[in-house]
Amino acid sequence: MPKVAIVGATGAVGTEMRRQLDLRGFPVDGEPVYLASERSAGTRLPWKDGEVEVRPISAAAFEGVDVALFSAGGGRSREWAPVAVDAGAVVIDNSSAWRMDDQVPLVVSEVNPEAITDRPKGIVANPNCTTMVLMVAVKPLHDAFGLTEVVASSYQAAGGAGMSGITELLDQAAKLVDVGEETLRAHGAQAEGSVDAQVFSKALAFNVLAHCGSFTEERYTDEEWKLLNESRKILALPSLRVSPTCVRVPVVVGHAIATRLTFAGPVARDVAIEVLQDAPGLVVEDGTGQGDEPLAYPTPLGSAGRDEVFVGRVREDLGDDHSLNLWVVGDNLLKGAALNAVQLAELVAAE
Ligand SMILES: NC(=O)c1ccc[n+]([C@@H]2O[C@H](COP(=O)([O-])OP(=O)(O)OC[C@H]3O[C@@H](n4cnc5c(N)ncnc54)[C@H](OP(=O)(O)O)[C@@H]3O)[C@@H](O)[C@H]2O)c1
Repeated sequence: MPKVAIVGATGAVGTEMRRQLDLRGFPVDGEPVYLASERSAGTRLPWKDGEVEVRPISAAAFEGVDVALFSAGGGRSREWAPVAVDAGAVVIDNSSAWRMDDQVPLVVSEVNPEAITDRPKGIVANPNCTTMVLMVAVKPLHDAFGLTEVVASSYQAAGGAGMSGITELLDQAAKLVDVGEETLRAHGAQAEGSVDAQVFSKALAFNVLAHCGSFTEERYTDEEWKLLNESRKILALPSLRVSPTCVRVPVVVGHAIATRLTFAGPVARDVAIEVLQDAPGLVVEDGTGQGDEPLAYPTPLGSAGRDEVFVGRVREDLGDDHSLNLWVVGDNLLKGAALNAVQLAELVAAE
């Protein structure tokens, strides 16, 4: 049985990784090693019926570890993943630190599991949460029809920015409820300026921010570049045209993506639905409520706490018979991060 370490065990993703290891019955040798910053050292966190003490990261903490699940930010991954590998561990990393390294596979368990065995650095990267959710729906359509272009607009939850993002959204929402309907309706700029915004650049509560991550000189954000670069790497389509717009919405957990996918030839909705219904890890919720068709489409709130990725609003494009429009939703902390990481650990353990 593998000995497992969780780096970032106190965080939003780390919390879900602890739960997923237990829920999925991952065969952990003894109890896992919980690591975080000095701030959390000594904190006790649950493991099965007991508790495990959180330790600060150190080289000694990786001794004897076979699988190290990292979710403590890029800096920690860059510094400590090679240390864990030197100690004999396979690292599964949730940060962006290693994703675009040629010697590090970037793996979605349903999409390109075969890539995991080729890991010269001993590190496997977990994709960005928005890309991950999108890929689960895109890959089967690509296999069926041959993808040539993706236009994607994300609706990303506060939880994509970690525990502090969730806390900031909830604090702002409570404050703005107190501020009241009239200010929100008639004096929005005053309402927007009245709350503390540290994690996000403006008030997120009762708002929509066309800004996830940091801007680059091309006027896109790093989150948008991740959608482009990681999609190309995961699908092994280095020239895929990707037009990303990443938007933050006042949702606690659950990312949604409205996407237009273009293929090599004409594509029909009914065939696409059959492809999506047969795809692993995907649930189709698609109905207009007209006639005898029930009303069905996925929502981020409805996806929170669910393992699957959901797809709905599947439509043939009105102007291009090579294109489909669809709505893809998934829990950013589960399939978008912790669940996929544990699924990758299962693949490694099965080798
Ligand atoms: N949230 C998502 O939806 C999502 C999805 C995919 C990937 N990711 C990635 O996963 C990673 C963690 O994200 P998160 O959302 O879980 O963030 P988070 O809730 O802010 O948690 C961050 C974790 O990192 C630890 N940490 C911070 N500084 C540290 C240090 N100097 N030394 C050791 N540990 C340190 C924290 O420990 P303390 O509690 O001790 O501070 C905490 O356990 C990030 O790289 C993020 O990009 C997140």
